[in-house]
Amino acid sequence: MSSGIQKKRVAVLISGRGSNMTALIEAARAADYPAEIVAVIANKADAGGLETARTHGIAAHAIPHREYPSKQAHEAAVSDALRAAKAEIVCLAGYMRLMSAEFVGAWEGRMINIHPSLLPLFKGLHTHEQALDAGVRVHGCTVHFVTAGMDEGPIIAQTAVPVLNGDTADTLALRVLSVEHETYARALALVASGKAVMKDGRTVFSD
Ligand code: GRF
Repeated sequence: MSSGIQKKRVAVLISGRGSNMTALIEAARAADYPAEIVAVIANKADAGGLETARTHGIAAHAIPHREYPSKQAHEAAVSDALRAAKAEIVCLAGYMRLMSAEFVGAWEGRMINIHPSLLPLFKGLHTHEQALDAGVRVHGCTVHFVTAGMDEGPIIAQTAVPVLNGDTADTLALRVLSVEHETYARALALVASGKAVMKDGRTVFSD
């Protein structure tokens, strides 16, 4: 890149269609974006995002967890791929695997995730149903550092959307997704540029 900025090498882990992955690839095309996407890894051979990544010229690897005898063996294969790609930051983007404490520890402060709710509300799955059941009038998405507790790591960025009368889980999911992409690109830029750092279990921000 001619801008001269040192871009951090980022790998994106996916399980499905990869619309957040695509948003990161597109954001990283800007000369002044502080990260480049160097690899995409899916734990499912049929993840649609693999093909999308390849059409963007990004190396994309299927490492299906079902083909490994244990979580440890699968994570070792993922670690090998991350090492081969010389990844410095890992972005989870719809990656539907819980990771071991060892893997999370190895990437502490360098692995981030997007979750479709305003954490700490509505951890886990079916977040849009959870939001509708709770009757909240505001919902959204969160990008956070990954720590051992699921969906519990320090928050980097959030965007809120309204819950509208007559919303279903599907209409709400679409509204949240429409803000996820920008939120994730913004959060990755903060982490890659060193403006958001995980320290003592908190996110510390600087200008
Ligand atoms: C997104 O809603 C993300 O927040 C959640 O899983 C979904 C993945 O969508 N973790 P996509 O594969 O990025 O399109």
